[in-house]
Amino acid sequence: MTGNGDKCGAAAGNGDGELQARLMVENLQVLRTPSRGHKAVDVVDEISFRVQPGEVLGLVGESGSGKTTMALALLGHVRRGLVIGDGKIIVDGQDILGLSHSELQHLRGRRIAYVPQDPSSALNPTLKVGTQLREVLDSYSNDQKARDDRLTEMLAEVGLSTVPGILDSYPHQLSGGQQQRVGLAMAFACRPQLIVLDEPTTGLDVTTQRRVLETIRDLCQSYRVAAVYISHDLAVVAEIADHVAVMYVGRVGEVGPAREVFTTPAHPYTRGLLRAIPSLTDAHVLVGMAGQPPRPGNRPPGCFFQPRCEFAIPDCEQGQPPLVKVSESGHSARCLRAVEVAGLGRAAEERVTRPTGPEAAGPMLDVRNLSATYGPKTVLRDVNFAVPGRQCVAVVGMSGSGKTTLARCLVGLHPTWGGDVFFAGKPLARGIRRRSDEQLRHVHRRKPPVLPRQCAGRCRAPLLLTAARLRRQAVARLPPDDGIGRPGRGDERAHVPARGHRPRARRPHTGQAPPARHDARR
Ligand SMILES: Nc1ncnc2c1ncn2[C@@H]1O[C@H](COP(=O)(O)OP(=O)(O)OP(=O)(O)O)[C@@H](O)[C@H]1O
Ligand code: SF4
Ligand SMILES: [Mg+2]
Repeated sequence: MTGNGDKCGAAAGNGDGELQARLMVENLQVLRTPSRGHKAVDVVDEISFRVQPGEVLGLVGESGSGKTTMALALLGHVRRGLVIGDGKIIVDGQDILGLSHSELQHLRGRRIAYVPQDPSSALNPTLKVGTQLREVLDSYSNDQKARDDRLTEMLAEVGLSTVPGILDSYPHQLSGGQQQRVGLAMAFACRPQLIVLDEPTTGLDVTTQRRVLETIRDLCQSYRVAAVYISHDLAVVAEIADHVAVMYVGRVGEVGPAREVFTTPAHPYTRGLLRAIPSLTDAHVLVGMAGQPPRPGNRPPGCFFQPRCEFAIPDCEQGQPPLVKVSESGHSARCLRAVEVAGLGRAAEERVTRPTGPEAAGPMLDVRNLSATYGPKTVLRDVNFAVPGRQCVAVVGMSGSGKTTLARCLVGLHPTWGGDVFFAGKPLARGIRRRSDEQLRHVHRRKPPVLPRQCAGRCRAPLLLTAARLRRQAVARLPPDDGIGRPGRGDERAHVPARGHRPRARRPHTGQAPPARHDARR
């Protein structure tokens, strides 16, 4: 690890001599292109790290911290409205930012692979899984026998060889976990040198998640692939990553060996993230971090974390602190008080017990004998539960146990269900069209995409309110503190907010138009 000045590194120099890193990122900067009188601002900047063959670097941070922007830049790609301003991305000795469009195209999938969060968006719904896997293998070898052998090997590697008829299935006929494994098989098909995984296990149940994580780990180690693994879930990162980089407002705030960062966090922001992890054994109110991260172009003059920092001192207002070395193992943090903060360790934080409010008179939601079918197949039987007012009932279960079907019944999107559901004491109609406005006030679990050509504010207005006046009124009524209701956000195109901001901007509708992809260079 190195922690020299503003450079941070994951596992460079390990006592056996400096290894040739599989991935080296040096001073990477991605800018938002100027528009409508706004000057260019950086979305991520001063990003430097290294990943050795066979290693996994976990990349964590709040929504909007620039993780996906960084991940896509590793493929030489940026989203519309962004451009790579500076820096180097060196994969096995080659700076990929110096390559032409066609050279980059050739590289992607072969030497650098990407696994997105939502496997269904990466798979073509109209093609069978076998066709899609064989397409990827076209660039693996010209020899048909070698391709067939590799196909068999790939299925075994990701644990799909025992799934009957997998190659003849369409993606929608597979579970989320199986789709994700197909995505992994495609990503590892050509034995890439670098794999970038953007929250690949979000939305999977814990058992499936564990299997997918083990698969990723095994494949990285067997083929000496360097991996960058993005996740909000610190527990997952602790399990899979050798090193961790914590991003805050487009900068690496802390980096180091995973165990060290999680046990002796040196940045107050990392401490805050760790404090917000739920515990199964000790139910308590999660302590969130106060305030919101500043948006690009709206950052404070000193340390970006200063307005939210419980350790702030007057010097913190003087400028961006450099990365300060905390230990010889490469642990460093962008904080003036890093050594002191690390010395505190991860002390047991004070636990706040959830206050018990007055009992509500009756249940807010009352589900009685609910059953649901898909054709002849019954997937839910005799489901009974009640949700009192001001309380949250969690529905958990393995992939395929019927959670989504239950949710679809409750929100009126599943046509064939029986039993009774009462909302605030009144029966809930089966179909969404027959429900009152009051009953329609819910949010989708599985998010339909917002339209990329619409402004976020426009997407938020209820669909039926088409008149501009009514729409403005609807947006004005939204709470101001959700990170989208802030001034200016309603005017942003829907592709601009970070992924974590998007579900809050949604209302149910069915428009589907993926955002355009652009190459990164200016
Ligand atoms: N195409 C774009 N044009 C302008 N700004 C953008 C664009 N894409 C993202 N941004 C901004 O860049 C910042 C970082 O976004 P990014 O998607 O990289 O965050 P993230 O860490 O991946 O968030 P999440 O965890 O929600 O996925 C956000 O402030 C976002 O609004
Ligand atoms: S430099 Fe100051 S404000 Fe920034 S994280 Fe450290 S203590 Fe907090
Ligand atoms: Mg993201």
